[in-house]
Amino acid sequence: MTYTTRIEDNILHLTGAENQTRFHAVWLRDNLPGAAYRDPGNGQRLVTLANLPEVITLASADVNNDAIDICFDGDETVHSFALSWLLDHAYDTAEIPDLNPGITAWTAALTDVPTGDITALKTDKSARLDWLSQVETYGFAKVTGMEPVEGGLFDIADLFGYVRETNYGRHFEVRTEVNPVNLAYTGLGLQAHTDNPYRDPVPTLQILACLENSAAGGENMVVDGFACAQRLREEDPEGFDALASYSIRFEYAGSSDVRLQSWRPMIELSPEGTFIQMRFNSRSIGPVQDVPFEAMEIWYRAYRRLSAIIDDPAMEVTFKLSPGEAFIVDNTRVLHARKGYSGEGSRWLQGCYADKDGLRSTRAALAHELGDA
Ligand code: FE2
Repeated sequence: MTYTTRIEDNILHLTGAENQTRFHAVWLRDNLPGAAYRDPGNGQRLVTLANLPEVITLASADVNNDAIDICFDGDETVHSFALSWLLDHAYDTAEIPDLNPGITAWTAALTDVPTGDITALKTDKSARLDWLSQVETYGFAKVTGMEPVEGGLFDIADLFGYVRETNYGRHFEVRTEVNPVNLAYTGLGLQAHTDNPYRDPVPTLQILACLENSAAGGENMVVDGFACAQRLREEDPEGFDALASYSIRFEYAGSSDVRLQSWRPMIELSPEGTFIQMRFNSRSIGPVQDVPFEAMEIWYRAYRRLSAIIDDPAMEVTFKLSPGEAFIVDNTRVLHARKGYSGEGSRWLQGCYADKDGLRSTRAALAHELGDA
């Protein structure tokens, strides 16, 4: 790498054969390398802005092999930045930051359900890395090869982190006996939804493991909420903005000692407009009273349209779980549902929640360890 340096208006200009980039003096001063500024063990910053001089002025910047040596006015020290580090952390770019790195939106065209075998996931780090990466990319994945025993779902949380306990317990039962004599007991389908939008934060991952599934039907279905929201944004930008701009109340008070409530938008965006989270669960929305009067009809129009997009078979991926199979879903993004089922038989799943930050951390650490970062 051959670069030249230039200081102009207190900004460092780095110019290479094919690109150039710029750094402000204050940015460089705040990111000084060395043990005095970063803990050598954990890399954590050891100085705060209060430790920085009020006025920070670049005095010199010189190429020194693969480093850039920088001096500031009033400071005798030569600070040597690795050129590769500067280029890796360059911010002088026209690109909008991609706050959803590694995410791929999908529809029913996604025919290969990401799947991992539990034995391989437990024993083979590269298999685990591949599966965790797929969970991040697609927001869901199946697990096969499990023993259909109670508590087996915890093996999946153990792959990357910890169970998140709630008032529903460490896990919860999803069990239905189908009685063909009385149609009232026929298992009805559920609209695709995210779980527990009335919590803040919501459970970011859900794991559902199948122990019995002998009834006809009862397939599981997943829908990419970000793909649905993006479709709404293209079809009805005004409606999309309404769902993203106004917080609403999600509520649950299923027993006398529980009164859960959150106040968040149905579609949550970053300041840059990229997706952070979707909360979609018609059972848990309280009376909508925080949308301005003038926007209420637009908000309902968009809610109705988003609901229809979510129900569109073109958006859904379905699969049936056999005993010994499970799936995990990113509950901030991917909606899940079960289809209706009927006939004689039983359906028994166990579910639990876990945290996505732990999954992402484990994936990144494995990628680093295996040289696949
Ligand atoms: Fe659910």
